[in-house]
Amino acid sequence: MTSNSSEQTTTIVIFGASGDLTRRKLIPSLCNLFCKGRLGPEVRIVGMARSNMTAQEFRDSLAQGLDASDNLGPDREEWTEFASRIHYCRGDVSSTGDLRGLEDALRSIESSGKPANRLYYLALAPSLYGPAVLNLGSTGMARETDCWRRVVIEKPFGSDLASAQELNKLVHSVFAEDQVFRIDHYLGKETVQNLLVFRFANTIFEPIWTRNYIDNVQITVFETEPVAGRAGYYDQAGVFRDMFQNHLLQLLTVVAMEPPSNFQADLLRNEKVKVLNAVRRITPASAAEIAIHAQYDGYLDEPGVPAGSRSPTYAAMRLDVDNWRWQGVPFYLRSGKALDEKRTEIVIQFRRPPHLMFPQDIGPNILAIQVQPDEGLHLEFQAKTPDGKMELRPVNLEFHYDDSFGGQAIPDAYERLLLDALNGDASLFTRSDEIEEAWEIMDPIIQGLAAPDAPLPSGYAIGSKGPEAADQFLAKDGRKWLHQYGRH
Ligand SMILES: NC(=O)c1ccc[n+]([C@@H]2O[C@H](COP(=O)([O-])OP(=O)(O)OC[C@H]3O[C@@H](n4cnc5c(N)ncnc54)[C@H](OP(=O)(O)O)[C@@H]3O)[C@@H](O)[C@H]2O)c1
Repeated sequence: MTSNSSEQTTTIVIFGASGDLTRRKLIPSLCNLFCKGRLGPEVRIVGMARSNMTAQEFRDSLAQGLDASDNLGPDREEWTEFASRIHYCRGDVSSTGDLRGLEDALRSIESSGKPANRLYYLALAPSLYGPAVLNLGSTGMARETDCWRRVVIEKPFGSDLASAQELNKLVHSVFAEDQVFRIDHYLGKETVQNLLVFRFANTIFEPIWTRNYIDNVQITVFETEPVAGRAGYYDQAGVFRDMFQNHLLQLLTVVAMEPPSNFQADLLRNEKVKVLNAVRRITPASAAEIAIHAQYDGYLDEPGVPAGSRSPTYAAMRLDVDNWRWQGVPFYLRSGKALDEKRTEIVIQFRRPPHLMFPQDIGPNILAIQVQPDEGLHLEFQAKTPDGKMELRPVNLEFHYDDSFGGQAIPDAYERLLLDALNGDASLFTRSDEIEEAWEIMDPIIQGLAAPDAPLPSGYAIGSKGPEAADQFLAKDGRKWLHQYGRH
């Protein structure tokens, strides 16, 4: 069921309403959508958590979060109008009785006479996804009659292939796949979507987007924050589960996929699944040949990190995509915490000219897609320096969102994704088979590097560029990590 008729209203139910995600991302994004007139006149938000508070206390806590968020805040009048649509219902999502109570509350809130669609957002710890879904099923709250029912599930979706399969099975026992929106907020970022436009709406790039012209692809997601305060979750996950299985593999699929015949959710996702399916599988025994891992100095002293933990906070790996387009082109992925900069970037290094007629050795062409910060694209090529002899120097063609769109603010990824979920467009959400393929790639790497006989994680200083092992890892292939393509 996909329609949003004017005869219907919509309720967004947020489970985990007193949490960080709701306060920092969901409410600011919904509020922005409301201020832009995109939320529809009859959308209301109902939060649920175990904390005891009134609707007004809930709204007040959200208003504080809004002040602290990166989003452009609404003015007081807009906030007051938006806040009047926010309700709160205390309850434990793992209690069937509490969900029945929520259903009664929803019916009374929705008593305008018009049928109400519902978007259930699970902003909960992953251990509660299962109980929440089962209770939505057993109370009849997932059943579609004359209105749609959808569920948004946050990451992480499973902690390995087996748990992801189990969770998919459980979710499908209540919701059909087209009701399920598994979120990976990286796909909601403007630059990631722009990569699809760049590749498939321009004729000049696609012909060179192959092994014939591309030497290697590098995908980097760097964070500056250490694990502070999140060690309980983070130590269980480590960087592979936290970043690679979802965000980095999603970025890889967008770079490597074939063009779908149109921008329809399933066609797009079919192409992404084909890429993941073509990623060369390895065994745990060979994990150390394609990946390195490291831990920042002092990680073991973070409160909540178990003594002797080997959980990596940094990793780099090489993946190969075994198909015609990408045969022999390595995809290097790296991500880490507590580094010297926050940066997400995709760098395409092209092949060198087959023959050099100039006396000077020159670097290859490079295309860098800056996902954050300062979203944009850079194309590096060689130019002759003016005057004098034949001397070449790399120069940059640059596109920056900020410059090209008159400083128009780039919306938070959640804004786009929430709107898509409300409109029933799953293009930027992960399908069940996609999640499972991604775990199938990551499982042997995680297992192999955690094995007792695997190399221990190397160290790196907080605020550094990462471990030397990462540079040595690429040097083994005769390559270097390409430096940041900031504004020139
Ligand atoms: N925060 C982020 O930026 C971010 C980013 C990406 C993904 N995520 C994912 O989003 C989810 C939520 O993250 P978060 O950072 O918001 O976590 P959080 O701050 O710990 O919030 C968890 C929420 O769940 C509620 N809760 C706990 N047990 C409950 C129960 N039995 N019934 C009903 N509500 C319950 C808590 O409130 P009470 O204690 O009042 O019940 C709280 O509102 C996680 O899966 C996380 O991995 C978060």
